[in-house]
Amino acid sequence: MKAWLEQALELDREDPLRAFRDEFWIPRHADGDDQLYFCGNSLGLQPRRLQDAMTRELEAWQSLGVEGHFAADTPWVSYHEVLREPLAGLVGALPSEVVAMNSLTVNLHLMMVSFFRPAGARRKILIERQPFPSDRYAVESQLRWHGLDPAECLVEFGAGADDRLIDESLIEEYLRDHGEQVALVLWPGVHYATGQRFDLQRIAAAARAAGAAIGFDLAHAAGNLPLQLHEAGADFACWCSYKYLNSGAGSVAGCFVHERHHDRAELPRLHGWWGADPATRFMMGPEFRPAKGADAWQLSNPPILAMAPLRASLQLFEEAGMAALREKSTRLTGWLADLVASEFDDLLEIITPGEPERRGCQLSLRVRAGREAGRRLFEHLAAGGAITDWREPDVIRVAPVPLYNRFEDCARFGALLRSFGCGK
Ligand SMILES: Cc1ncc(COP(=O)(O)O)c(C=O)c1O
Repeated sequence: MKAWLEQALELDREDPLRAFRDEFWIPRHADGDDQLYFCGNSLGLQPRRLQDAMTRELEAWQSLGVEGHFAADTPWVSYHEVLREPLAGLVGALPSEVVAMNSLTVNLHLMMVSFFRPAGARRKILIERQPFPSDRYAVESQLRWHGLDPAECLVEFGAGADDRLIDESLIEEYLRDHGEQVALVLWPGVHYATGQRFDLQRIAAAARAAGAAIGFDLAHAAGNLPLQLHEAGADFACWCSYKYLNSGAGSVAGCFVHERHHDRAELPRLHGWWGADPATRFMMGPEFRPAKGADAWQLSNPPILAMAPLRASLQLFEEAGMAALREKSTRLTGWLADLVASEFDDLLEIITPGEPERRGCQLSLRVRAGREAGRRLFEHLAAGGAITDWREPDVIRVAPVPLYNRFEDCARFGALLRSFGCGK
């Protein structure tokens, strides 16, 4: 493993983004060393600048009270607007198409209120097999809300029994053959369990050609991959900000609504006062006049203490640049994949696609010897200071994140695998 470590140290020295690691709090292992933190796909690390950003808002509240709505350095009444441009840049949208609000599952429901409109024979929702449970619960409950039977109307689409990946061509074929029954396709940008990245443009085109609405869950894609939501033509998309966006557990989520829907007065939507036109919002009248763009889907006044972290974190993405982050991510994850494949093929199968364009940061490693050995390996890694996560029945997810992970972390991860007693 020595040669791998030497090469890793050299790659870190040459890394143009290496200074960004110092922008983050890296948790410490019991022995005092930095943890090998590979869980940015679950909870991103805390940016150091976040504390100042939060303190500013706490102090504004201390000194201004209610006046903070208008007199804080960034007035709270329009705080969400400062997130618009950086969020739009992050997901490839027009500024009017994005808004930070609520949490991911809540936004999925709000979007389905508008975009799941079953009618006649077109009343099915197409999702991937093995979706994240919250997405499944959400679509199932939406079907029931419309008086539909999930057994008939929920299509969980997947490949063969032992193939966890889903080729886009199969989705296209399904929609060509059965698309007239599908009211909504809800698809992930990156699959949470396998790490497979999907071609959003192809899936959106196939859904739209079939006459179905298309929405994306970008929980594992936002901040992980460059996205082009406007161009892809999605009707809507939702994502959380506590994973690759490093904004803290349960932090405020993001939502995209394509421009073509902004002026559709006939589109059903749940309303709250923050979705109203800011020019009339405080007139307290009975009539709802929508704000422009995705803002009209807001319900409540925004949580400033959850938005300040997102704002601080988005600055880091702007400073590093998504193209540079993706470039490093491709090399970092590729390097880890090479290490695992060449040294630990007897122990681990990488189920994430091998082609860099079909994955983001995350590698999902199936422990060949099964669940029991897998759990022992997972615990061995944790005891040695490598924070990964376990997904039943036999997968260890490892996500080297280009903002704060090093090649050295990957090499040390390899050394821990070796000390488990496996590999060449
Ligand atoms: C793919 C996916 N969808 C939905 C959720 C649920 O998110 P929330 O609890 O923010 O609603 C998660 C959380 O990790 C997720 O990974």
